[in-house]
Amino acid sequence: MPAFVDALAQITSYKEIEEVMRSADFHQSGAPERRIFFADTLIFAEGDRHAELKARFRSLMSREAMAYYEVRLLEPVIEEGLASLAGSRGADGCVRVELVSLVRTMLHKISAGVTGVDGVDTPERTERFAALITQLSEAVSGQWTRRPTEELIAEGRRALDDLVREYLRPSLDRRLALGRAFAKGEVTSDALPRDLLMTMCLADDIDLTGDDIRIPYVWRQCSLFLGASIHTTSQSVPHLIVHLDEWIRDHPEDRSRLTDPAFLRQAAMESLRLHQSSLAKFRVATKDIRLSSGRHVAAGETVALLTTLANRDPAVFGDDPDAFDPYRPRPAGQMPWGLTFGSGRHMCFGSNLVIGVAGKADAKMGTDGTLVKIAKMLFDHGCRLDPDDRPVAATKTYLDAFDRVPVVFDRL
Ligand code: HEM
Repeated sequence: MPAFVDALAQITSYKEIEEVMRSADFHQSGAPERRIFFADTLIFAEGDRHAELKARFRSLMSREAMAYYEVRLLEPVIEEGLASLAGSRGADGCVRVELVSLVRTMLHKISAGVTGVDGVDTPERTERFAALITQLSEAVSGQWTRRPTEELIAEGRRALDDLVREYLRPSLDRRLALGRAFAKGEVTSDALPRDLLMTMCLADDIDLTGDDIRIPYVWRQCSLFLGASIHTTSQSVPHLIVHLDEWIRDHPEDRSRLTDPAFLRQAAMESLRLHQSSLAKFRVATKDIRLSSGRHVAAGETVALLTTLANRDPAVFGDDPDAFDPYRPRPAGQMPWGLTFGSGRHMCFGSNLVIGVAGKADAKMGTDGTLVKIAKMLFDHGCRLDPDDRPVAATKTYLDAFDRVPVVFDRL
């Protein structure tokens, strides 16, 4: 853990963390760089404003919207991505590729679609978008890196300026024009894209006081959606593939289940339980509070919620909680992924997009979720870890992430 976490009261108990996350008396907290990029956005809004924003954005994660993202934005990108690799077959007939960056590329279109970023279309534009998002994501999660924070923030600000100039501003201008045409009755609602920026335009919620002296609100909200969606999922897929590769080595009888969405969903939930997108979440007490455990938290005190440890609590998840077991019984009254998507009102807004809607996946509505969808398409093409080039864990950050996961495709 970085030193700033050590300086805080740390909560590791599943029950206590849940209580804090669900309490209206604890508000979002965290490193200053998160506020530079995310102040006033969904994740930092509280009370009525949070409820208002959540209700406004809800339709972005409706089942119909998710089906659109998966079938129209994700599947073609995965197929194109895999097809483009087919040309790089080695002498043994296999294709070798690095999974972390491959998955990242696959996710850019879906995140651009949810946020409302136009022009992530050609390979060059996608590559440029990806590079800028990487810099922005590193800045907003600067608290977990080993690099000087000021340097990261400066880089993140420059990346956001470029993102605004090259992608976000033209996308917003198009939506503002569409919003005006809609208000005059010149276009119907069918002609309006369903994304964050369009939703903000229709609600006339683009500007906030103080926008002239800091990153404007509309770009902060975009930064949250882009920052929260790509790098989280792109780390979850490699973890899942690595776990399944090891599982199959020990349980060869499950090999044929690697392309079974129901099995992959179980595995995805278990892998999510074991690996968090950040090592801790932070909350500040708005008044003196005594938790039901008896723990006292003083008004103004920030606590670090160590969900990684809570998600391995044997009282909740049963025997051998450190092990990956896709057949682990569902914990009573809890999500199979534990606290990985948080809990309470700030629970992850995109969790359905990641994990789909249980038992309702079908070819038309496509609600498998990005994790299962990507894993299935990889395994359909015979994806396995490269035995000669092992995964490399991230070294420049404290995060539970991989820098590289080299894989081989047997059937591209
Ligand atoms: C594996 C992937 C993901 C993981 C592990 C994850 C995890 C989380 C967690 C733990 C929180 C709560 C943070 C807290 O309580 O302090 C959160 C919030 C959020 N996530 Fe995700 N996330 C993922 C993917 C996504 C995606 C795809 C989106 C798409 C838009 C997204 C959007 C958000 C937003 C907007 C919030 C703020 C919600 C609020 O405060 O009401 N996330 N996420």
